Amino acid sequence: MTGYRLTRLLPADHLHHALRADARSGLTGQPKRLPPKWFYDARGSELFEEITRLPEYYPTRAEREILTARAGEIAAATGARTLVELGSGSSEKTRLLLDALRAHGTLERYVPVDVSESALESAAKALIAEYPGLEVSAVLSDFTTGPVLPEEGGGPRLVVFLGGTLGNLVPAERAAFLSGLRDQLLPGDALLLGTDLVKDPAVLVAAYDDAAGVTAAFNRNLLSVLNRELDADFDPAQFAHVALWDPEQEWIEMRLRSLRAQSVKVGELGLAVNFEEGEELYTEVSAKFRRERVERELFAAGLRLSDWWTDREDRFGLSLSRPMSDASD
Ligand code: SAH
Ligand code: AVI
Repeated sequence: MTGYRLTRLLPADHLHHALRADARSGLTGQPKRLPPKWFYDARGSELFEEITRLPEYYPTRAEREILTARAGEIAAATGARTLVELGSGSSEKTRLLLDALRAHGTLERYVPVDVSESALESAAKALIAEYPGLEVSAVLSDFTTGPVLPEEGGGPRLVVFLGGTLGNLVPAERAAFLSGLRDQLLPGDALLLGTDLVKDPAVLVAAYDDAAGVTAAFNRNLLSVLNRELDADFDPAQFAHVALWDPEQEWIEMRLRSLRAQSVKVGELGLAVNFEEGEELYTEVSAKFRRERVERELFAAGLRLSDWWTDREDRFGLSLSRPMSDASD
């Protein structure tokens, strides 16, 4: 592919090495838990795309509505030459920003950053064909552990983190992530952040427990990743998909509930993992926000919110913020 470059910031054995470490601590702890980044092998990335088209899963449509209305304004406010996207997946909604920045006359480079190589490759292939002359400089990286922004120039940069993926981090992880990101932003750079909003729990739970069972398949796919990568023998059919709303934390929690007492072998770890009947493996939180919380968390990380937009039904929020300079704050 011309105009395409992939930088691997994950060591070749990352999948194996980091998954082994997460599985060893996560499956031997109490309660058992695994980080959600392991959902996204090629199959998991496809299942997520299917989720975005479900009637119950409103976040993608709500965020697209905001971007459609505001992309021109965002392009004019940022004048970005480089668009960096964290957790870019299929880069579907990104086209609205690419179009607006191109129309504004500043766009030179798109830098998708994702832990899923299959998602990066198929998104880049489509974008190269659709945007002749655009430099696509993809980065295979884990944004929770390593540097996320390219070091070279290309500013001003607009860093976008869409879909509500920030909500898949717990508060301490979010604080570390945001301040780490702020430290890499230069004057003139901006952050566009998508956050799903607190709403009727029935609407929220339906979005994570759809009638067609796609989210259940996405959740259980984690077990197939463990089977393949770590020579485990999970039977996904022996685990029920659970999605519940925690009103105190204001997050949706996804778990996998063991349908019976069972022992699962994880060959690569030489581990037998015992589940009691009804015992749950915690797989994901998806935090829902209010504007004040977004503004507060950004501020605590050294970022000042300048704009806040929602869709017509106030389901999803998009914020634009900039690094605060030491002198002004
Ligand atoms: N931004 C897209 C995709 C959201 S799905 C949208 O709004 O539709 C979440 C994406 O983040 C997936 O592509 C997944 O592979 C990626 N991801 C999840 N955890 C990650 C991590 N720790 N580092 C890098 N990418 C991650
Ligand atoms: C990627 N992330 C924002 C999704 C979410 O809504 O938390 C992942 C997801 N999990 C279940 N459905 C979708």
